[in-house]
Amino acid sequence: MARIYAVGVGPGDPELLTRKAERILRQVPVICAPAATAGDSSHALSIVEPFLDRSRQEVLVRIFPMKKDQEGLDEFWEDAAETMISQVRQGRDVAFITIGDPFLYSTFLYLYRIFRERHPDITIEVVPGVSSINAAAVAAGMPLAAASERIAVLPATFEEEKLRQTLLDFDTVVLMKVNRVFDRVYALLKELGLDGSCAFVSRAGTNEERVVFDLDSLVGKKLDYLSLLIVKKSS
Ligand SMILES: C[S@@+](CC[C@H](N)C(=O)[O-])C[C@H]1O[C@@H](n2cnc3c(N)ncnc32)[C@H](O)[C@@H]1O
Repeated sequence: MARIYAVGVGPGDPELLTRKAERILRQVPVICAPAATAGDSSHALSIVEPFLDRSRQEVLVRIFPMKKDQEGLDEFWEDAAETMISQVRQGRDVAFITIGDPFLYSTFLYLYRIFRERHPDITIEVVPGVSSINAAAVAAGMPLAAASERIAVLPATFEEEKLRQTLLDFDTVVLMKVNRVFDRVYALLKELGLDGSCAFVSRAGTNEERVVFDLDSLVGKKLDYLSLLIVKKSS
């Protein structure tokens, strides 16, 4: 029986795909890729393009709008899920590609819930990927944790009091999805005296990788969605 693969394609460099991811992407007849809006290209697809053979593989791009509030988005997840299920029921393996790792804040997780609830007979194989967190830490030269250090990973959009407490409690804090709330987070880091021990990393593991230590220079700027902040107290 055909199956669904959820393939983590890493942060951007095709060389950071696992060998397993590459093998599956070369062999499946159908690849499903997420894009943010109808006119957008898929970042995940651009990473794996060197491994695809368009003459024998079909690529389906589906819209996954990026919103903090998921309300009203069910129809998008359901459309993508049903497209993939219909391919599998016709006997074709489908690989859904997702940036970084599929089990970490990934678009795939919405689909995973639908598959498990409504199509429990279908086999889903998840292929882990190199997360943007790993690539960003290397780009910034900031080891994430050593010895008994504690690390927290959370969306920067988290409620302010909880964010403050997390910043106080952990040795290393990684703030994902920081682009839209950067100014607010920066003000909090300044207040806690942590603004000097951070790295802002965008497009880690790609040709456009950017690492900024002087956070003040980013205030008021439009920032890339593919960016995160590493706060490291003990470095
Ligand atoms: C929906 S989450 C996907 C995370 C992904 N599954 C992972 O394992 O890296 C999107 C967020 O991941 C981070 N991100 C993804 N790719 C990135 C990259 N190449 N460089 C920096 N941050 C990235 C950003 O914080 C972005 O807002």
